[in-house]
Amino acid sequence: MSTQTTTAFHYDVAVLGLGYVGIPLAVGFAEGGCRTLGFDVDTERVASLRSGISPLTTVPSERITPLAAQGLLSFTTEKDELSRSAAIIICVPTPLRTHLDPDIGFILDAGREIAPYLRPGMLVSLESSTYPGTTRQDLCKVLEEGSGLKAGIDFCLAFSPEREDPGNPKSLLSEMPKVVGGLTPECLARAVALYSMAVKKVVPVSTCDTAEAVKLTENIFRFINIALVNELKRIYTAMGIDIWEVIDAAKTKPFGFMPFYPGVGVGGHCIPIDPYYLTWKAREYNIDTRFIQLAGQINRGMPYFAVSRLVDALNTQGKSAQGSRILILGVAYKPDIPDDRESPSYEVMDLLRDKGAVIDYHDPNIPEITAHGGGREWAGKTSVALNAEMLAEYDAAIICTPHHGVDYSLLAEYLPLVVDACNIVPKDGKARVIPA
Ligand SMILES: NC(=O)c1ccc[n+]([C@@H]2O[C@H](COP(=O)([O-])OP(=O)(O)OC[C@H]3O[C@@H](n4cnc5c(N)ncnc54)[C@H](O)[C@@H]3O)[C@@H](O)[C@H]2O)c1
Repeated sequence: MSTQTTTAFHYDVAVLGLGYVGIPLAVGFAEGGCRTLGFDVDTERVASLRSGISPLTTVPSERITPLAAQGLLSFTTEKDELSRSAAIIICVPTPLRTHLDPDIGFILDAGREIAPYLRPGMLVSLESSTYPGTTRQDLCKVLEEGSGLKAGIDFCLAFSPEREDPGNPKSLLSEMPKVVGGLTPECLARAVALYSMAVKKVVPVSTCDTAEAVKLTENIFRFINIALVNELKRIYTAMGIDIWEVIDAAKTKPFGFMPFYPGVGVGGHCIPIDPYYLTWKAREYNIDTRFIQLAGQINRGMPYFAVSRLVDALNTQGKSAQGSRILILGVAYKPDIPDDRESPSYEVMDLLRDKGAVIDYHDPNIPEITAHGGGREWAGKTSVALNAEMLAEYDAAIICTPHHGVDYSLLAEYLPLVVDACNIVPKDGKARVIPA
């Protein structure tokens, strides 16, 4: 089997799953000069992309249209088109089940979808974040069973973790070092050759399991450090010390310290989810992931902390949560993006609603909460305007996620109370601003 992309294929690469990860990946490959096919089962999404309209604000349409015009980027829902691509990259979701167990159903479905169209000489690379062993065991099995071909002999199989940073304009595929592991040395060589077409620095590792572990390690590192700083916030808040001032000063140390910032919890499709993929897998080896579980406990407790700060502050003003009108600022899980998956803002909203508060939200990036995001129970609710007249109706606000372009000084001016988990509201206005 040749390690070079064979000219027998019409496309250099097909990206299966055109979401937050798949779209920038497909665009990045096309920008690298690769003939790229985007495939998704979502017909609306593909129709939008075919007409040159990006469904993601993080990837502007202007990046897509010239590539389509040059014939470098096309989109389809036709599965048989996959057989025309030398390589297929899988970027489907990897959620958790209700009891925090991994759900690799999307990966297995994608494998079953690809299998009938696998041809000798193809490469399949998985990019969905998952536990070590998924590519080598689970994906390999469905691909081999459905195709009658043998991985490592008839076709190549690899894993390459995704490092997409949504909302960060500097996060380009070409600039981000790409870790790659292959099922065999030949699979690795083939995957390195593919990614080298679009990425400046490819980092080969010895196995698919290692590459899967790299991704989990990166996200667990973040998950645990956010938990640490969240715990420190609770301690320092009780001591009357400003955690933000502490971090700002600590990060002047030129070695041995890396700043992480506290918040009302962790959100998104990666950080709150991926660590539990390892927790589940580690049980197979009779090992408890105590750090991960502790960090999860702390991070999941943060919405309760923010709400308790608000309830206590309302109390000092002679009010109770029951019947108070509370404005939530930011339901996206991080600044400047329209993604509200797993957003802890919804936990804050749920807790306050359960206490009888009347809740509204403002988020310029999420004008309406949909049933597809993280706030299903709030679907249909729309973002309220932020102006003096509106603010006069509220007893307090909680800042959960800061976005550029929001005038936080309005809150300081027109509200009696602001609970600020993001250190963004000016403290010299009329409002009582307390950290959370
Ligand atoms: N979002 C991020 O910032 C990020 C960063 C790094 C890694 N990841 C990982 O990347 C993976 C994908 O995440 P995402 O955020 O892009 O998900 P997403 O939900 O935004 O997109 C997934 C896409 O896959 C499509 N899809 C699902 N099943 C399919 C199938 N069988 N065939 C074809 N298309 C199918 C969906 O229609 C959707 O468009 C996850 O494993 C995630 O953990 C995400």
